Amino acid sequence: MSQQTPEHAPDANYDFIVVANRLPVDRITDPDGRPGWRRSPGGLVTALEPIMAASTGAWVGWHGATDEELEDFDKDEIHMVPVSLSEEDLELYYEGFSNSTLWPLYHDVIVPPEYHRTWWDNYKKVNRRFAEAVLKVAAQDATVWVHDYQLQLVPKMLREVRPDLRIGFFNHIPFPAPGLFAQLPWRRQILEGLAGADLVGFQREADSANFIRSLRRYTEYSVKGHEATPDASYPLRNVCRAAAHPISINTAQVAELSKDPEIQERARQIREGLGNPKTVMLGVDRLDYTKGIRHRLKAYEEILSDKSLQAGDVCLIQVASPSRENVDRYIQLRNQVELMVGQITGQHDTLSHTTLRYLHHSYPMREMIAMYLAADVLLVTSLRDGMNLVAKEYVAAHENERGVLVLSEFTGAADQLTQAVLVNPHDIDGMKKKIVQAVNMSETEQARRMRRMYRHLQDNDVVGWSQKFLLELASINVHATT
Ligand code: G6P
Repeated sequence: MSQQTPEHAPDANYDFIVVANRLPVDRITDPDGRPGWRRSPGGLVTALEPIMAASTGAWVGWHGATDEELEDFDKDEIHMVPVSLSEEDLELYYEGFSNSTLWPLYHDVIVPPEYHRTWWDNYKKVNRRFAEAVLKVAAQDATVWVHDYQLQLVPKMLREVRPDLRIGFFNHIPFPAPGLFAQLPWRRQILEGLAGADLVGFQREADSANFIRSLRRYTEYSVKGHEATPDASYPLRNVCRAAAHPISINTAQVAELSKDPEIQERARQIREGLGNPKTVMLGVDRLDYTKGIRHRLKAYEEILSDKSLQAGDVCLIQVASPSRENVDRYIQLRNQVELMVGQITGQHDTLSHTTLRYLHHSYPMREMIAMYLAADVLLVTSLRDGMNLVAKEYVAAHENERGVLVLSEFTGAADQLTQAVLVNPHDIDGMKKKIVQAVNMSETEQARRMRRMYRHLQDNDVVGWSQKFLLELASINVHATT
């Protein structure tokens, strides 16, 4: 990579740059048949919008199609810098190293990670492409915020050629314990890649501590508290700080939508469409093996079979949005889940009542809020989850203080939503008891728990999250090299 300075790169006038695998826009065709872009609903873009608007902001990311080079474009005050991926990159970098090596490894090897040198080579190549795209647009002393496990080599790649940059990294998924991370044949390169950042943020204290312990064990950095300093012989001189910065949601927006009469009416229709059962339970997940959907369905099936709850009284809506559909483990999971769905409905449904409504779709925000409102109980039973924003959205939609959140202990959200009914999804009997307890919880108890969790989300929303991260990043003296 050549040394680039603002003088060398004519477009290098952006002083705040977000780098993520995906751009925050979706392709659309407008009513006149012309192609265009629509902002995708993700929380990250909502959080960063005010910062993007206040500074000259750019977003570097993949546009979602393969083998297509696109020019930069502006959308809603954000300068979009599309990075292209070939079919081969999709297979080796995205489906391979990101989602069949790192994803399972970082989620406590729920399924065995695969280690292939061709995937690693392509991961390096694509990370370099993202870094080059940043270098094209980064102004002198710009702040660059890199996101997630797909791009862990980017901080070091930037630091090597642009020591003037202030670099932050945020890992949206868990960071594994050093004993598991040790499996990765390229563990040192990944750690050094991350340590090119001034600040590396994690969802939980435990993730941050795992990262720091791995740095100590597998690199030449010396570690003191939350900070790692490179040895004198190491070419990069920056100190890397690790910290927990749990992500959140746009609490006010969700709360506002939950009071919209149209959405409330839609919630009523949803319940009516299910035959107005006494209890509606809801699960909302990407169809991913980390989410514990099979464990949840197993518990539910047993609850119906042993009549802890009467089949005629309950309905579980399970939204499983399509995800990573070409990856083998996801194909297998879909088959397993759909088999279980067939077994449950076949066994327990009647002509007039369904016990399980399985929906393999994704839905717009308004429809999601209507489902949250329609649900008496939300089931989040992840085996491992960086945060789980669905849990937070459900709480934010229940300022009316009704509803019960059943939440896996293995989510980042469990560190904050401590008044949820916490469950261990591996303990099917324990989980069954907790689900029945949730269904039978008194309204006073529901209100007591919901109120406290709601207040937490009012005080800790996604805008506060990005502000706190960026304030900490800004407070680091990036020019004080060791
Ligand atoms: C998780 C990851 C994100 C990712 C998202 C959807 O939340 O942390 O980085 O974008 O899943 O996955 P996908 O593979 O479709 O981008």
